[in-house]
Amino acid sequence: MKISIRNAEKDDIEGIMSIEHESFHTNIAENSDTFLERIETFSHGFLIIVIEGEIAGYISSELWDYSENIDTGKFVLGHSIAETHRNDGKELYISSIAVLKKYRGKGYGNALFSELEKHITCKYEIASIILIVSENWHAAKSIYEKNGFRQVHVISGFFDDENNSDAIVMRKNRSN
Ligand SMILES: CC(C)(COP(=O)(O)OP(=O)(O)OC[C@H]1O[C@@H](n2cnc3c(N)ncnc32)[C@H](O)[C@@H]1OP(=O)(O)O)[C@@H](O)C(=O)NCCC(=O)NCCS
Repeated sequence: MKISIRNAEKDDIEGIMSIEHESFHTNIAENSDTFLERIETFSHGFLIIVIEGEIAGYISSELWDYSENIDTGKFVLGHSIAETHRNDGKELYISSIAVLKKYRGKGYGNALFSELEKHITCKYEIASIILIVSENWHAAKSIYEKNGFRQVHVISGFFDDENNSDAIVMRKNRSN
């Protein structure tokens, strides 16, 4: 099987949106303008995995100014990356990750996550990595816990899904 991980380009948007719609509740799926702005603003932080020519998964991120205190307003879904991203920011915020259903459970989510972390930390000086995850997304939580993230905050009722689920804010501090 031919598998590669590379930076996303604007022409990949259709494949990325298919994954987004398959993966998230309609109320919380983000729109194509949000993804295109992420690709345009910080393409280094946006990776896709391609399997036999098909876009099978993506991971997107931005760089924030680091602050030990957590500003929950920055996590708003669909926010403009242009307003939050700082090229010299020391905190890597993983804004989203998803894999097409037929490819899940085969290690591709883990691969995307590890590749992004490696890719960014060798180019940028990162003090901390932060993300939010729904209390109900067990596969995602498992990836994060395995990679050394710990819960630092809960935003109650954050997700506008059928359970109005809480968002768990997870963070990993880096020593370099
Ligand atoms: C989260 C997601 C990207 C993971 O991708 P994946 O390719 O299936 O993940 P992997 O196969 O690399 O597995 C990652 C870990 O999750 C575990 N896992 C996979 N499916 C699971 C499930 N349904 N329940 C619990 N753990 C699960 C795996 O065992 C693995 O842990 P391990 O390495 O300790 O065995 C994928 O499930 C997905 O797209 N989910 C919907 C979107 C989503 O929830 N995104 C997260 C946003 S924060």
